[in-house]
Amino acid sequence: MTEPVLVAVAWPYASAKIHVGNITGAYLPADILARYHRLRGRDVLMVSGSDSHGTPVTVRADQEGLTPEEVYKRFHAEFIQLFQKLGLTYDIFTSTHTRNHFDVASKLFLSLKENGYLFTEASMQWYSTEQGRFLPDRYVEGTCYFCGNTNARSDQCDNCGHLLEADKLIDPRSKIDGSTPELRETTHFYLDLEQLQDEVAEFLRDRQDYWRPNVMRQSLGQIETEGLRGRPITRDLSWGIPVPVEGWDEKCMYVWFEAVIGYLSSVVEWGLLHDKPDAWRHWWTNQESRTLYCIGKDNIPFHAIIWPAELIGVGQSFDEKMGAEDPQSLVLPYDVPANEFMNLEGQKLSGSKNWAVWGLDFLERYDPDPMRYYLTVNMPETRDTDWDWEEFYQRNNNELVATWGNLANRVLSFAYKNWEGNIPDPGELRGSDKALLETIRKGFKTVEANLEAVKLRAAMLEAMRLAAEVNKYLDTAAPWFEIKSDRSAAGKTIYTALQAIDGLKIIFSPFLPHSSEKLHSYLGYEKTIYGSLVTEEVEDDLSTHTVMLYDPGDSLTAGSEDLWKLSDLPPGKSFKQPSPLFQKLDESIVEEERGRLG
Ligand code: MF3
Ligand code: ZN
Repeated sequence: MTEPVLVAVAWPYASAKIHVGNITGAYLPADILARYHRLRGRDVLMVSGSDSHGTPVTVRADQEGLTPEEVYKRFHAEFIQLFQKLGLTYDIFTSTHTRNHFDVASKLFLSLKENGYLFTEASMQWYSTEQGRFLPDRYVEGTCYFCGNTNARSDQCDNCGHLLEADKLIDPRSKIDGSTPELRETTHFYLDLEQLQDEVAEFLRDRQDYWRPNVMRQSLGQIETEGLRGRPITRDLSWGIPVPVEGWDEKCMYVWFEAVIGYLSSVVEWGLLHDKPDAWRHWWTNQESRTLYCIGKDNIPFHAIIWPAELIGVGQSFDEKMGAEDPQSLVLPYDVPANEFMNLEGQKLSGSKNWAVWGLDFLERYDPDPMRYYLTVNMPETRDTDWDWEEFYQRNNNELVATWGNLANRVLSFAYKNWEGNIPDPGELRGSDKALLETIRKGFKTVEANLEAVKLRAAMLEAMRLAAEVNKYLDTAAPWFEIKSDRSAAGKTIYTALQAIDGLKIIFSPFLPHSSEKLHSYLGYEKTIYGSLVTEEVEDDLSTHTVMLYDPGDSLTAGSEDLWKLSDLPPGKSFKQPSPLFQKLDESIVEEERGRLG
């Protein structure tokens, strides 16, 4: 077995549609990394699922008169549709509403409890006598005790921005029926972060030299300035995972506490679905395993503090509960390359104001690779960025089509026409030919360095620069003139260019997999580079859920060969008549798309 790489992707709340900001923030970078590591022949597992519990889902269910389960299933099905169309190679995309996840989360909860990292404490919460239940924070509104805004949520005031202490809210009312709730005492389990903070800080310090500064600031920085305090990890809710302690089954685990456990439970489920029940240990108890968490910046504390704290607190107890004879501890995050946000046409993205470019909507009108391209060159890796339709249109036509698409098309068409669909035999290459191939070889190294450091934007720009180099080479050599006087010289040029685009196809493929597969097939290869996405219905005693799985099939990346290199193109090999890799867009789309906003 080769090096395990776990690409752990943020779990979308199954209560809202996915827009380009979510895609560039977490899902696309994850897929680029997963595909790159697949090319290296590593044991990649990319995992995630629908975050199906918590108030985001119940609020939406109440609004629409549906059950939380119905809401989660509707969005879950849409996510899978979108991810398939975009070509996001999740080895498993599941849900938190599965028996397996309940079991894994319960084992984790109990491990923490047995190891002494949970305590209970009473507090005052709003209780609806009308409904006979405690109301979650966002179900209670009232008057802000800072600014007097009468429409403040009990946990936050949107007018003055203050976080509120729920029990201090003035004139509280239930958002559900307007009735006045009363304060009642309730007891919850707390994760004892104070006890874990030294170990969490040490874990973070070990990674200080390569993590993104913003992620360090929001984790180690916070620990060093404010320290950590216990956090409640249970809630008075009925939609979620019951607390696995006698007498507590009326309460649920806090959604954030259990959703992050999905990174572990989904790997367990992947193993079960592939008849390899012990496989999860390859990624989770093997200290060589590289775990990469792709998330947006609003998720940083949960992935850089809370989840590591859970993992540290669990120690070897989880593995023990899973029946290990020689139980091991769980692997801590290798990197959490969180992204900033993407705005739209200079304004903050907002689902409720329809100020968004929705993933599925976009794919009804355009191909996936242009979106992937634009979202990669604009990825908010170090600062917020902006989706601008004019820029999308320009970059599609002037870069994707003009630099890369046309290059592939003109080389293949010219070769096809003049050498009857067979790769010409170049004989001895000239200095300029060798120099171009050397440029591509070096390009593999620079793109590799950027991808290993999770600098995807830089990697993409470097790939484009390489395509531009091949264009320059072609313009200088001008095989369309060469062929008139010296067919053998033209053969050397075309052979060199074909080999260069064959290499670029690999370099581009993590970013633009659909067009790379096309080019790969035009070049006459039988096997595809990557596998495909399939869905399956899984039934357990809790519910049925759809999983999306990645099937490597008989693709080149199914094995453990390292494909990240310029390979020799055999002269004489036959290839196919090409068609364009990308579509040119008409300028009118800019106004048309802007018209859809708001
Ligand atoms: N559902 C959360 C969000 O959309 C992300 C959860 S990531 C997880 O912000 F790992 F905790 F699930
Ligand atoms: Zn206020």
